[in-house]
Amino acid sequence: MAELRAPVGTRDVLPPESGRWERLVGLFAGVVERAGYGLVLSPMFEDVAVFERVGEGTDVVRKEMYEFEDKGGRRIALRPEGTASVVRAYVQHRPTPPFKAWYAAPNFRYERPQAGRFRQHHQLGVEALGTDDADLDVEVVALAWSVCTAVGLSRVTLLLNSLGDDVCRPAYLDLLRAFLRGAVLCDEHAGSFEQNPLRVLDCKREACRSATADAPRLVDHLCEPCAGHFARVRAGLDGLGIGYRLEPRLVRGLDYYTRTTFELAAEALESAQNAVGGGGRYDKLAEALGGPPTPGIGFGLGIERLLLAADAEDVFPTPGPRIDVFVIDTTGGAEALALTHELRAAGVAADRSFDGRSMKSQFKSADRSGARLALVVGEQEAASGTVTLRDLRAGGQETVDRHDVVDHVRKALS
Ligand code: HAM
Repeated sequence: MAELRAPVGTRDVLPPESGRWERLVGLFAGVVERAGYGLVLSPMFEDVAVFERVGEGTDVVRKEMYEFEDKGGRRIALRPEGTASVVRAYVQHRPTPPFKAWYAAPNFRYERPQAGRFRQHHQLGVEALGTDDADLDVEVVALAWSVCTAVGLSRVTLLLNSLGDDVCRPAYLDLLRAFLRGAVLCDEHAGSFEQNPLRVLDCKREACRSATADAPRLVDHLCEPCAGHFARVRAGLDGLGIGYRLEPRLVRGLDYYTRTTFELAAEALESAQNAVGGGGRYDKLAEALGGPPTPGIGFGLGIERLLLAADAEDVFPTPGPRIDVFVIDTTGGAEALALTHELRAAGVAADRSFDGRSMKSQFKSADRSGARLALVVGEQEAASGTVTLRDLRAGGQETVDRHDVVDHVRKALS
């Protein structure tokens, strides 16, 4: 029978590597929960309209979405990103603002798989809804920054921009269109820049790069409220000592953004896939999803990218095995069953062998498990109501009473 494989662009994460994921999610939860964000779980699939309203000009929605009709004839999409889902949930349940949510969840995009680009990737993210206070922008950016720092990354650049709002952006877009009409652009954008001129700024191809070198910059054309907001965000980051680079080309791939946008670029990664995370404001999204006007801001950090960046910087290693005690039983296994159960109930991580293996083979498994201690039950121990407690690192051993095993183990581990 042919062996089946995981779909192209997806991957299995097995132990011990998965221990690193667990640690990362725990670290993230710690950072954001200390700032008042609570876990939100939302469905992995939604009505297609939830994402269509993110913007038809968004590649993630237009070209890359996993869409299908379910057995009930509903148009469904696998979530390509987390923000629209969380905002949909907010609109549906109307929790009291400010609503501060975090998530750790998979997203699905039909992209060409390559290093750091998957068809199922995972994001750690936050979304904060209900205020357009610039201090919240600073808080959100600072949280993303703190996660990178806590992971141990030191070669990450924070890129910052403002995309204005529906007061100042339309006039800027007209200005940009007029500028681009006289320019030689790449094949893709020569035909499409009129609909979405901002994409040209983001294009990595040489033609668009050089054509836009002197293009007007949105930050120079912000209306007064947007300029004031952006100044407060910058002053806030300066005050916290978080360095950033103003990047007028940072337009982001999703169409819902207004005002503050940012990205975290890992210098240690290949430039096409070096964004470990990104985010920004989306003050009109709740309305687009049928809710009351509700400003919001958030970010998503790619778990796979964060770990690639950590590898490149040689930080955030995979944690070692977590077994404290390995029980070796050559009397049939009933003692191993009882002892592991007692130890686990007492909060001690314990494991054992199965299938009645030889003493030698069980000791090998004990070594492989990384356990510090072995508890050995042979014929002699069974007959005398004792257990041999051996320190697998230091090498010493003692015979202890079967009834006091847990206390002895605790003492030896402390
Ligand atoms: P995004 O920039 O599309 O933003 O994705 C955020 C991060 O997810 C990226 O910076 C990258 O690290 C990771 N990522 C995206 N696509 C892939 C992929 N195909 N393979 C591996 N990693 C990937 C969003 O999704 C927004 N929802 C972020 C946000 C939250 N904005 C406001 N709130």
